[in-house]
Amino acid sequence: MWASYHFLADIPFVAPIASKEAGEIDLLWWFLSAVSLVMTLLIFVGVIGFAFKYRKRPGVDPVPVHGSNVLEITWSIIPFLVMLVMFWWGAQLFYASQNPPKEAEEVFVVGKQWMWKVQYPDGNREINALHVPIGKAVKLTMASEDVIHSFSIPALRVRHDVVPGHYDAIWFRATVPGHYRIFCTEYCGDRHSQMIGFVDVLDQASYNSWASGGTGGSLADQGKELFTQNGCSTCHLINEQGRCPILKGIYNKPVELTDGRTVIADDAYLRESILQPNAKIVKGFDANVMPNFQGQLSEENVIQLIAYIKSLSPTAAPTPTGSQPAAGPAKKPKAVIKEAAAPAAAVAQPPQQ
Ligand code: CUA
Repeated sequence: MWASYHFLADIPFVAPIASKEAGEIDLLWWFLSAVSLVMTLLIFVGVIGFAFKYRKRPGVDPVPVHGSNVLEITWSIIPFLVMLVMFWWGAQLFYASQNPPKEAEEVFVVGKQWMWKVQYPDGNREINALHVPIGKAVKLTMASEDVIHSFSIPALRVRHDVVPGHYDAIWFRATVPGHYRIFCTEYCGDRHSQMIGFVDVLDQASYNSWASGGTGGSLADQGKELFTQNGCSTCHLINEQGRCPILKGIYNKPVELTDGRTVIADDAYLRESILQPNAKIVKGFDANVMPNFQGQLSEENVIQLIAYIKSLSPTAAPTPTGSQPAAGPAKKPKAVIKEAAAPAAAVAQPPQQ
């Protein structure tokens, strides 16, 4: 009882502004509020004023009032223009919020009754905590292990439902160092209110020292281990054609399917192909070769595997970078040329087997 009292007392009623987007979204919010206030005042003053002006008076006969085109056009056009401004302004902010910049650092968040599990490309992991550097674009790729959750950081003005079965994403660029709350904003069971955490926005030096504290391999290294453990490596060979497609160089590239469609090998496609391999069969391959991993792998495992597959396409994915510390700058252009000529034959990344 007392604990929950303190917890509530800790929640500020006005969220701090800790990202560039937060200020922009607030400005739109103030504009909408101001327009609502002005309209409300106009309507109330009009109703009260006219009620008084045209009140029933003894000895005065009411005269019917007929329409006025000028009046009707005016009160149609002005609100229309104001609403167009709202639409244009809101659409701009919405579009920006849906399109993370290419260079955004990717962090993975898995929602589960009742916690947020966070994975970083360099292999660090946390629960109910997120660390981000100041001034850098950070993209959160989010999945749910059970029911619908909603990930929200009010101080950064980001919120998105996290729906089981696919990936959802948000991004932000934090501008003010601090310690801000993370909430689940979708009722997800009896301990929904405890599905909370903190995001720490750190300056670059503090972030680097925090990030270097981790042990163990990168996310891609963890994925590589799973890839071997689950027997994937016996059919998906690295440099030659096995029973299943070669995964080198496929990330974010078009893939031809047996049914004639072409899809992009993005995170969603890879996730589906790991969990339900028969959903989309690559042209030239047979169905029912690969077992279903639905229920065998957690969302965190799938994220690790995708990070590994991504690391096999170093030129396609600028992030995560944690997995290729050995890649010298001189080798990068070579990889680009080779991959353009023959994606499957690019061997410019020796650390990847
Ligand atoms: Cu998760 Cu509410």
